[in-house]
Amino acid sequence: MSLTEQRSLAEIAAGLDTTKGRRRVSGAWPSVAEVYEPYFSPLREAATEVLEIGVKRGGSLLLWKEYFPNAHVIGVDIKPALKGLAEDRISIRIGDQGDQEFLASLIAEAGSFDLVLDDGSHQFDDQRDTLLALWPHIKPGGIYVVEDVHTSYRPKYSGGLGHEGTFMEFAKRFLDDVHVKEHKGETTLPDLEAIHLHFQSLVLCKWKHRQKRQDPAAPAPAH
Ligand SMILES: C[S@@+](CC[C@H](N)C(=O)[O-])C[C@H]1O[C@@H](n2cnc3c(N)ncnc32)[C@H](O)[C@@H]1O
Repeated sequence: MSLTEQRSLAEIAAGLDTTKGRRRVSGAWPSVAEVYEPYFSPLREAATEVLEIGVKRGGSLLLWKEYFPNAHVIGVDIKPALKGLAEDRISIRIGDQGDQEFLASLIAEAGSFDLVLDDGSHQFDDQRDTLLALWPHIKPGGIYVVEDVHTSYRPKYSGGLGHEGTFMEFAKRFLDDVHVKEHKGETTLPDLEAIHLHFQSLVLCKWKHRQKRQDPAAPAPAH
């Protein structure tokens, strides 16, 4: 397909069995496909490894397969029956995202990822631990998306505004990571270029060019 014939994420998602194409708040707010387009389009041709945790009916895997024409798409789910959704350029791996050994096997298989989306259990510990395990294996210039971060505010998930232990409370520390070059302190997510918090989705972008590690003894830059 030539570049001019390529469909947008929203156009592809509209014909698939996934909520990613669904406009939110009774159609008044954009779908996640519309939100993701500007982040994902620079990766469109270059992406070779895309991982999504949470397969359900496989609609979003078909979305990534068409949108990223050169990518191998890995779908991860805890339900063994979903194994049958594998097809050309789509692999299914069955496991629990909370299992670090299982995550290590995904890393060993793919090496590194252009894009990871966590649309799995939406449990805070899983969101945090999966991110910490996979972030070092995001390629320079790659993206990690945590979906449904609004669960952090939902009592059903033991969430609530400012509640200790929620994913969003944890994510607040990433704010300091963006300026590690200035403070030279500890980072949770090294090489974090940008944080984009949208309604229900957190988009984390890794620097394309590695940041030069500054000698802590060196004089601070003028600005
Ligand atoms: C919201 S659905 C995924 C929807 C799909 N990404 C889409 O957009 O069409 C969540 C999926 O995560 C899976 N899941 C739940 N807990 C999980 C876990 N701990 N590890 C891996 N997958 C899990 C569920 O079985 C379910 O299929």
